[in-house]
Order: sequence, then structure tokens, then C-alpha cells
Amino acid sequence: MAFSWILSYPVTSLLVAYIAYLGGLVIYRLYFHPLAKFPGPKYAAISRWHEFYYEVVKKGQFTFKVQEYHKRYGPIVRIVPDEIHIQDSQFYDTLYAKAGRVDKYDWMAGRFGCDTSVFTTGPDELHRIRRGALNPLFSRARIVDLQTIIREKISLLLDRLREFRTEGRILPINRAFMALTGDVVMEYCFSMTYDHLKLPNFEKTLHEPFMAASISGHLSLQCPWVPKLLFMLPESVLVKIEPLYALVFRMQADFRKQITAMKEGKMDDLIKESSHPTVFQELISGSMPPSEKETRRLQDEAQLVVAAGVTTTGWALSTATFHLLNNPHTLAKLRAELESAMPDPTAPLSWSELEKLPYLTGCVREAVRLSYAVTTRNPRLFNKPLAYKDWVIPARTPVSMTIVDVNDDEDIFPDPREFKPERWINPPKTKDGSSLERYFVGFGKGTRSCLGINLAHAELYMTLAAVFRNFRFELYDTDITDVELAHDFFLPSPRLDSNGVRVKVLEKE
Ligand code: HEM
Repeated sequence: MAFSWILSYPVTSLLVAYIAYLGGLVIYRLYFHPLAKFPGPKYAAISRWHEFYYEVVKKGQFTFKVQEYHKRYGPIVRIVPDEIHIQDSQFYDTLYAKAGRVDKYDWMAGRFGCDTSVFTTGPDELHRIRRGALNPLFSRARIVDLQTIIREKISLLLDRLREFRTEGRILPINRAFMALTGDVVMEYCFSMTYDHLKLPNFEKTLHEPFMAASISGHLSLQCPWVPKLLFMLPESVLVKIEPLYALVFRMQADFRKQITAMKEGKMDDLIKESSHPTVFQELISGSMPPSEKETRRLQDEAQLVVAAGVTTTGWALSTATFHLLNNPHTLAKLRAELESAMPDPTAPLSWSELEKLPYLTGCVREAVRLSYAVTTRNPRLFNKPLAYKDWVIPARTPVSMTIVDVNDDEDIFPDPREFKPERWINPPKTKDGSSLERYFVGFGKGTRSCLGINLAHAELYMTLAAVFRNFRFELYDTDITDVELAHDFFLPSPRLDSNGVRVKVLEKE
């Protein structure tokens, strides 16, 4: 036999078998896979290595690479062997809202190390249980009641801004906003806060561990064994070799401690004294099945809900602040509206009253649009084939779109990178006459859309009104590259050496 010598060397024969397997896989993926006929680069049909390269090596660049694929191959592209991506703002509603209940892509659950959270849950039935328990706690009525707490925290923020003004110090306002959103969401979830609003320079907010989870997420997805291996190392070693993961594990341990303390009744006094319901206490005493109340499960939920509540809203406030200070005409219009609606700057309006102010509403819409919140594609899986133009996407194929693509679509939002509150006023329409609101997708759409939309809106309206009615600022050593999207770590990130949005708080006129 010609190849009999190979079989006498076990390592060689294993190697040959592996190469034959890889060759077979490449041929299958290129010519026989159900997605074989879809447009896209050949290398993308063969493996995920290009995704690894753009996400891990080039640090969050795959979203932009996918945009290049669309320029070359059209609105529908096979971006990795098993996934289809669509770039067509008209289709967003169909994919996320009209197509009904859908599953999420299990592969993506491993990104942050909180696999059992509501956001990372794959199957629709399980998601219903988890989301059903949270929904009433984040309803509009609940958030209307939470305004007292939000106002208390904003008032603390305003005190700190006065302090920076008196002392003539440079204010890292993006950090101040992260401290605000962190203190609000922790108070609502646990009836306690870390008082980050009181830190001298807001130097240690929850933004750091969440950003660490977000940055390390690409590697965790591509190589799921990495976090598992690192988790086994002592913290003292981990801090030296992988400080990002060290920060993530410490934050997770902290949430575990909070949940355990709550379950053991150690937080009962705090919760009884609290003027508002406490999200995790309600989940623990609510009607979810016992398996859903296990400490590890609730730890995952806490990590996700708090993370979603801190960075998104904090970054939207920072983005709006940059653009307002960078566009004096826009700022003047906002201030004129606020001065007429709030003649006494110390007497704040309610969230519902603020929502009636058209220019402020335009600023909130633009803040959400230009801060993007989630910059990675959001895959969905359907049990039936899905039609897109002449294409039929096989059932159970992960199909995604990316919010950034809609928010930056020139046909919908002319001069898409400009902060133009006017585009949302009187009555907002697109070029073809349809409602612009249809393309307001910053909170996602459908059954998996943002749980915290009411909390986010209350914070955005109330904070922008309070800050810009009471203070004047000047940007300090900050330009557009400090807010513009440069890296997609699931959460948006500007250039990595940015020092954030920094301002001088000016004396009153
Ligand atoms: C400007 C502020 C915010 C924006 C733009 C935003 C945006 C989003 C988006 C786009 C999604 C869906 C992602 C997907 O399609 O899979 C999402 C999900 C979610 N958001 Fe927000 N978010 C914001 C603030 C908040 C706040 C304040 C909270 C609450 C504390 C929150 C909690 C959540 C949760 C729990 C989910 C997962 C929902 C699920 O999978 O059922 N978000 N958010």
C-alpha cells in the first residue's frame, strides 16, 4: 500500500487526518454550505480568523470591515461561515420588530462572562421569563416614581460642578456623568451606592470594569477558554498579566457579594429605609422559578443591568455635551428654550414636562443617535426562512444588522455625523416622506429591545436640562476625536488614548 508507511506513525497519521478534515471543511463551506451562494469574501466563508484579526488584534474593527464588505458586495453579505449581515435601514423594522419573537445567537452569550443574563439569553422562552420579571420594574410608571432619586443624584452632581467652578479645576465631565448614572442604577437595583459622585475627580467609576469587560469581550468570544483559564489564577498574578480580566472578575465578585448579602437578609434595614422598591430584592422575592434565583444567575443579571445602565446613558450625556459646546448656535437654542420653560433654574421640571420641549427632545434624540450604545451587530435567529429582496435566508441562520449603520445612514440622516436637534422637530420626516421616528433605533426594537429606555430617557432629559440651565462651560483640550467612534468593543469607544470630554466650568454671566 502506497500510504501504509504513514499509518505506522500515529502523529503523522493524525496530522494527515486533520489536514484532510480541514480541506473537506473548506470545500463544504465554499460549495455545499446552505449559505454558499450568498455574496461575501471567500475567506469569510471559510473561517472566523479574519474576525479574530479585526476584533482582537486590530481592537474592535470588524464592524467597520463589515461596512467595507457592504460597499463591495451589496446590502446582504455572508460575513463569517454561519452568519449573514444586512445593511439596509428600511429592513430594520422587519428584522427586529415585525418578524416577531426570535432567539438570540448563543455563541455571543460568552462575551462578558454573564451568560445567564436577560441580554445574553438565547432561547426566546427563557428570555420571556427573565424579561417578564424585569419589565414591571422598569415601566414608565416606576421610573416616574424614581424621579426623586434621580433628582437627588443630579443635585449632588450640580454641587460638584459648583465646586469645580469655584476651584477653577478642569472637570472630566464624561467621568462625572458615569458617576451619576452608576449611582442612580446602583441605588435602584440595590438600595446602596458606591457614592462615585463624591469622588474628588470621579476617578473610579463603574465605567472602568464595564469597559474592561467590553474590551476583553472580543477575546472571550473568539477563545472562550481564555477567561476560564485566567479565572483559575490568583488575583495577584492576574493583575500583572491581564489587568482587564482582573477588573472584570473583581466586579463580578462584588455583585455576587451584594446578591448573597441580600439573600441572607443583611440588607433588610437598608431596603426597609429606602424610599423606592429595590430591583434585586423584588427579583428575589418575586415569582421567577427557583433556578432563576440562584446566586450565580442573579449575579449575571446584576452585572448586565448595572452595566447597561451606566455606560450607555453616561456616554450619551458626554456625547451631547461635547456637541453642544462645540456648536454655540445649537447650545444657544437649547438654553433659550430652557430659560423660557424654567424661569427659575433652581425649580426643576418633571421628566414629563421636559419631554414637551421640542429642542431638548431633539438633543436627546441626537445624543442617543450619535453615541450608538451598542456598536456590534445584533444577530437574531428565526425558526422559518427569512426573505430579503431576492434572497431566502435559511431558518436558524444568525442574521444581523448594526445600529451604527442605520444611525449613520446619509439617506435617512443627512450629514449623519453632525449633531442637529432640528432634524427631529416639526414633524420629523425622511427624504421619502416617511416618519423619522421609524429610524430611531438607538434602543433597538422588538422583544429584545432596551429594558431601560424609560430610565435612560428620564436621566437624559433631567440631566441635560439641569446642567445646561444652571451652568456654562468651555471645552478643555477636547475635540471631535474624543467622542467619535473609533473602536467597537460592543460598547462604543473613541480613540484609545483619549482623555475624555473635559471642560472648564465658567463663572455665571
Ligand atoms: C442611552 C441609553 C441607552 C441606550 C441607547 C440603550 C440601548 C440598548 C440597546 C440597543 C439594546 C438592545 C441590544 C440588542 O438588540 O440586543 C439594549 C438592551 C438592554 N438595555 Fe439598554 N440602553 C440604554 C440605557 C439602558 C439603561 C439605563 C438600562 C437599565 C438599567 C438598560 C438596560 C438594558 C437591558 C437590561 C437590555 C437587555 C434587554 C433584553 O435583552 O431583553 N439600558 N439597550
